[in-house]
Amino acid sequence: MWYIWLVLTLVLIKLYNKWSTGKFYDNSVMSGKVVIVTGGNSGIGYATALELAKRGAKVILGCRDNKKGLRAVERIKKRSRNTSVRHIHLDLASFTSVRKFVEEFKNTEAKLDVLINNAGTSGISQDYTEDGVVTDMQINHFGPFLLTLLLVPMLKKSAPSRVVIVSSVLHRFGRIDDLNEMNRYTYVQAFCNSKLCNVLFTTELARRLDGTGVVVNSAHPGQVNTSLYKSTIFEKLRSLVLYSFFKSPYDGAQTSVYLAVSDECDQITGGYFADCEESKMSLKVNEISANKLWSYSESLVKLRPEETI
Ligand SMILES: NC(=O)c1ccc[n+]([C@@H]2O[C@H](COP(=O)([O-])OP(=O)(O)OC[C@H]3O[C@@H](n4cnc5c(N)ncnc54)[C@H](OP(=O)(O)O)[C@@H]3O)[C@@H](O)[C@H]2O)c1
Repeated sequence: MWYIWLVLTLVLIKLYNKWSTGKFYDNSVMSGKVVIVTGGNSGIGYATALELAKRGAKVILGCRDNKKGLRAVERIKKRSRNTSVRHIHLDLASFTSVRKFVEEFKNTEAKLDVLINNAGTSGISQDYTEDGVVTDMQINHFGPFLLTLLLVPMLKKSAPSRVVIVSSVLHRFGRIDDLNEMNRYTYVQAFCNSKLCNVLFTTELARRLDGTGVVVNSAHPGQVNTSLYKSTIFEKLRSLVLYSFFKSPYDGAQTSVYLAVSDECDQITGGYFADCEESKMSLKVNEISANKLWSYSESLVKLRPEETI
């Protein structure tokens, strides 16, 4: 008998979650807009890319696995009936790959209206990348930092344009001291640190781009049932429990889509959003920390003088 109650309780929780999730109901179209979605082959990124393709945008997926990227392109084309969807290889764990991605993008596209820094990982590897950076930190912050700065000239040229950075409520538990010291952190702490970096980067980039017509905001997607949890202790709790307590990828993509599309936020910059509403960011987010992180990131990604903003 107890299991009937368990299933019933989980179903009720699922319904409550579904009902209480912030949704973006606006039907605005994105025809003529060019959008990059990193990590668009699965989870929240896939749902975001699909939604933007349905609205008519030209969508470029940046994925590290070509097979997965091409498979996602085909699925999105079919489901959205939009043929302007393609993939360019992007491995955020390699600064060389990030530079190649930007070169190819610039050689093949004339503008960029929206950049969605969605790709992320949690606990993939207790290792350093070929660039000598803690892998999770490079995928979640330093890679997207370099990617965004290399695309800033194009975003400025295409203004009004937008940058969306997918962070997490867990940024509240982050720290930014010794970001490249692997032994100091568990992977959960490294995730929180990288997500704090996302919010700090958002505020500093917004400040530096003020008045250029490029707006920058970060998002917390909620707790979403995606493969992000494959590599963590949540793995064993997948299926029913994750399904009940966590949002679907479609619901998790709502805030990213809102920030990419909605007229309501075309003048808002430097904000942090959850459930399609502006939300309070951690008190740790201040100009001093944001500047400190910016300088450190510039030196770690070896940004060239002409690439700084
Ligand atoms: N799920 C949640 O509850 C939750 C909560 C807060 C924040 N977020 C954030 O939401 C974003 C999307 O995550 P998700 O939940 O949708 O997880 P997901 O399904 O695992 O998607 C992550 C995406 O990032 C890609 N990626 C990983 N490493 C990469 C690399 N080196 N280069 C390029 N792409 C890479 C993955 O590619 P592969 O398929 O090849 O691995 C995948 O496409 C992340 O930034 C995450 O931190 C998620």
